[in-house]
Amino acid sequence: MPKVTYIEPSGNQVEIDVPVGWSVMQSAMSNGVEGIEAECGGSCACATCHCYVESHADVVPAAGETELSMLGNVVAERKPNSRLCCQIKMTPELEGLVVRFPDAQS
Ligand code: FES
Repeated sequence: MPKVTYIEPSGNQVEIDVPVGWSVMQSAMSNGVEGIEAECGGSCACATCHCYVESHADVVPAAGETELSMLGNVVAERKPNSRLCCQIKMTPELEGLVVRFPDAQS
């Protein structure tokens, strides 16, 4: 199972095995990772699963139009590597992915 390292706002790092097909958000929520709220449950409607993708920039599929639009609603600074992690589905190619959560989601 591919591993993802989540960096919480405190800097604490949590490494989790994420089932292929799960979203990066689902695994964070299931494991109690700090720094994510995911209020809409993954339907790309809340922008509280904002993360910064710190690795695999050329492997993570590009954001779709809805996600790009919702990224305009994030509370923390939007950066070039900002994503909504409910929209990143785990694949074997994402083994070792590192995502960082911002200081605030809402
Ligand atoms: S969980 Fe709501 S946009 Fe990702």
